[in-house]
Amino acid sequence: MSSSPTSGYSVMINVTAWLIVCLLCPVQPRAQPGTTSNIKHIVVGRCYDYITLVNPGLRLDCEDIWRLFEESVVRQSSFNTSLDYHQMFSAIPQTWPRDMGLFWSKTRTLMHSYTAVERHFWTLEDTLVGYMFNGLVWCGQEDDSGFNFRSCPTWAEVKHHPVYSLWRRASQNFAEMAHGNITVLLNGSIGNAFNMKRHGNKLRSDVFLAKVCIKICIHLSLFFYSTHSMFASVEVDSLDPCRVDYVNIKMVTNLDGPFIESCNQGSVVDLIRILRSRGFHWTCTDNDE
Ligand SMILES: *[C@@H]1O[C@H](CO)[C@@H](O)[C@H](O)[C@H]1NC(C)=O
Ligand SMILES: *[C@@H]1O[C@H](CO)[C@@H](O)[C@H](O)[C@H]1NC(C)=O
Ligand SMILES: *[C@@H]1O[C@H](CO)[C@@H](O)[C@H](O)[C@H]1NC(C)=O
Repeated sequence: MSSSPTSGYSVMINVTAWLIVCLLCPVQPRAQPGTTSNIKHIVVGRCYDYITLVNPGLRLDCEDIWRLFEESVVRQSSFNTSLDYHQMFSAIPQTWPRDMGLFWSKTRTLMHSYTAVERHFWTLEDTLVGYMFNGLVWCGQEDDSGFNFRSCPTWAEVKHHPVYSLWRRASQNFAEMAHGNITVLLNGSIGNAFNMKRHGNKLRSDVFLAKVCIKICIHLSLFFYSTHSMFASVEVDSLDPCRVDYVNIKMVTNLDGPFIESCNQGSVVDLIRILRSRGFHWTCTDNDE
């Protein structure tokens, strides 16, 4: 999942290009890439990798997890109801290390260096579900006959995208299970580091979804892009003040700026207000010394 500066740049161009395309034809459903080819081999292979090398203590039947996943997706073809992947999630034990939850929003670059230095952090990508489905796309088809490998809708086009539903559920579990101290990394070099504004404002929320759709559909391998705003939309609401000792927020800016948000400026203040009103203990530090 490494990306050179050049590919990062072309990613930005791609995003911009797609944003323009999306803006030009907002109603016309656009052909998007379909289900990732070889998805079964990828998911089952990653599952074996996880239970063999990453977390050898875990006793799981990878083929069975795949079957439960496949059943939920294939059964639903209309995108009218939210998939909850209930059976798959309940087949996976939710074990969680204490004091390790790391949540983040738009700090992808930093996330990697941070977890590389502080190996004890535990992110969504370290969970089995995050590991298995990272960067993949999938959807069923109308006639109920398996995955649609030709095209899947974007997140913005349908009310309940099967990929979105899975990440939403995974993020929610991740936050619900967090206990002890948790760390939130926020990017102080962009406005709205804590992406609060998506609540209660239909237009903004659609714009948000459109952006996410572009990111997930076009940059299939960039998992962090695909879920970056889950922190505001799902995870904060799922944190349990009784299980969480401290929410330690770290604001991180790019070395060369811009310096837009900090602990007492910008959307982070909203986050702190919410945390306070729900009875969380919290700390906030600007740029790690
Ligand atoms: C999806 O929902 C819409 C509006 O609720 C309804 O009109 C439509 O018939 C539904 N489609 C399917 C395939 O269930
Ligand atoms: C903050 O976000 C910008 C724009 O998405 C990105 O280029 C930058 O690398 C991020 N900074 C950190 C510290 O992650
Ligand atoms: C949890 O966070 C608080 C506040 O930052 C800190 O004082 C405490 O030492 C932390 N505890 C652990 C176990 O890291």
